[in-house]
Amino acid sequence: QLRIELDRLASMISNDEKRAAFENEMDNFYALFKRYLQEKTSTKKLDWDVIKSPNSEEIIPYKNLIKCSESKEKEILNKLAVLKLNGGLGTTMGCVGPKSAIEVRDNMTFLDLTVRQIEYLNEQNGVNVPFILMNSFNTDDETKRIVQKYTGHNVNILTFNQSRFPRISKDSLLPLTHDPEGKLSYWYPPGHGDLFESLYNSGVLDRLIADGKEYIFISNVDNLGATVDTSILNHMIETDAEFIMEVTDKTRADVKGGTLIDYNGQVRLLEIAQVPSEHVDDFKSVKKFKIFNTNNLWISLKALKRVMEDNELNLDLIVNNKTLETGEKVIQLETAVGAAIKHFKKSHGVNVPRKRFLPVKSTSDLFLVTSDLYKLQHGELIMNPQRMFNSVPLVKLGDHFKKVGDFLKRFQKPPHILELDHLTVTGDVTFGRDVQLRGTVIIVANHGSRIDIPSGAILENKVVSGNLRI
Ligand code: UTP
Repeated sequence: QLRIELDRLASMISNDEKRAAFENEMDNFYALFKRYLQEKTSTKKLDWDVIKSPNSEEIIPYKNLIKCSESKEKEILNKLAVLKLNGGLGTTMGCVGPKSAIEVRDNMTFLDLTVRQIEYLNEQNGVNVPFILMNSFNTDDETKRIVQKYTGHNVNILTFNQSRFPRISKDSLLPLTHDPEGKLSYWYPPGHGDLFESLYNSGVLDRLIADGKEYIFISNVDNLGATVDTSILNHMIETDAEFIMEVTDKTRADVKGGTLIDYNGQVRLLEIAQVPSEHVDDFKSVKKFKIFNTNNLWISLKALKRVMEDNELNLDLIVNNKTLETGEKVIQLETAVGAAIKHFKKSHGVNVPRKRFLPVKSTSDLFLVTSDLYKLQHGELIMNPQRMFNSVPLVKLGDHFKKVGDFLKRFQKPPHILELDHLTVTGDVTFGRDVQLRGTVIIVANHGSRIDIPSGAILENKVVSGNLRI
C-alpha cells in the first residue's frame, strides 16, 4: 500500500525531471521502509557475545601519528575536500532556523567561522580546499543566504541538498502527506547517513573526483573543534585506510555516544539504539567501551564511489518515534554516517584529544564557546592560554536559559570564567556585565523569585539562593 501511495504522489508531479528525482528519493525511502518491516519481525539480532573491544590496530592513539612536512602538507591538502553536515535544525535550543546560523562569537555564525578556517587554510598553504555543505530542505535557504557573502573569497563553497523523506503515521504506516509538497512538518531529513546517497546523486562526488580530490573530511557543523588536521590525513594516506573515524575518550557525561567495536574481526560502530536492553548499562560504562565517535570522519572518495556503485551500502537503521505538535504519532527512519565504516577497507579509529570534539548541543555549551575560555584564531577556537588547567568547566544552565533568545537576554555580556570549575544556574537569574565566576558557583532562584547578578560582581566558591540582589 505504501508503494502505491508513493507512486501516486510521484504521478502528481508534471515536470519530468522533478518527477524522476522524486521517484529516486521515494525508491530509497521505500528500500529503508522494507528493511524496517523485515527487521521488526526478524529474530536475527546483534550477538552481544561476539562484540569485543577494538584491538591496538583498530584504534590508534593520536600521539602516535607522524607530523607531516610542509611540502607534503601542501600536496595532500590539494587532494582534500571538507564537508559539514548541515541538515539539522537547532530546535533543542529553540531556534527555528539551522543550528549553523546561530552566532557564536564576534557576530559570526558556525558557518562564518568554518568559512574563515578554510579560507585561512587555503591562504596559508596556497591550496584550494573546497568547502561543501550538506543542507536539507529545512536549512538550504538560510544557509545560502549566509554563505553568499563569501563569493569572491579564497574558498570555493558548494552546497547540495540531502533527501527529503515522508513522515509515516505510526498507526497506518502510510505517509501523512497527500501530495508531493504538502506541509513541511510532513517531511524529514533522514539523518546524516543519507550523505552517501545525496553526495552521489547530486553529482558533487563526481565533480570532486574530476577536480582531483581524493579525500573528504566530514564533521558536524556545530563541532568547532573539527578543524583540518594534516597528521590524520597523512596517516590515512600512509595506512591506505579508506575510512578513519576520530574517536575520543569517554567521560561520564558522554555515555550515549556511539562506540567502535570489533565484530568478528571487523570494525563497526555500535549505537545505543542497537544495544539489547539488558546490556545498556554495559554500553554506557566508561570501563568496557572507553571511547566514543566524534563524527569527525575521513573517507576516500574513490572508495565511497565504489561502495555506491556496487550497491553495498546497508547502514543500520535508526527508528525515531516522534509526536508532532499536532499530536500525530509518526515514525522517522534514519541512518548515521559513521555506520558506513564497515563497508570500507582498512578502516579504523584514531583516538584524538578532546579539543577536537567541541559540539554545541545546548546553551550550556554555547555559554562555554562564547566565553573568555576560548580565543578565536582565524575562525578556530583555541583554549585561552591564561586558563590554568586544560579541563573545561562543568556548566548546567536551567530551563530559563534553554532557548538561545532567552540565554542571550540573561547575560548583558558573557561572564569571565577563566577560573571556573563548576557552574549551576536554576530559575530566573540574570547577569550584568563583567561578572567573574570562579571555582564552584551555584545560583538558584526559587520559584517566583528572581536573582540579578550585578555588573562587576565576583563570585568565588559561592552558593546564591532565594530572592537576592547582591
Ligand atoms: P544529530 O542530529 O545527529 O546530532 O546531528 P545533534 O546535533 O546532537 O542533534 P540534537 O541537538 O541532539 O538534536 C549531527 C550533525 O548532523 C547534521 C546536523 O546538522 C549536525 O551537524 N544532520 C543531522 C544532517 O546533516 N542531516 C540530518 O538528517 C541530521
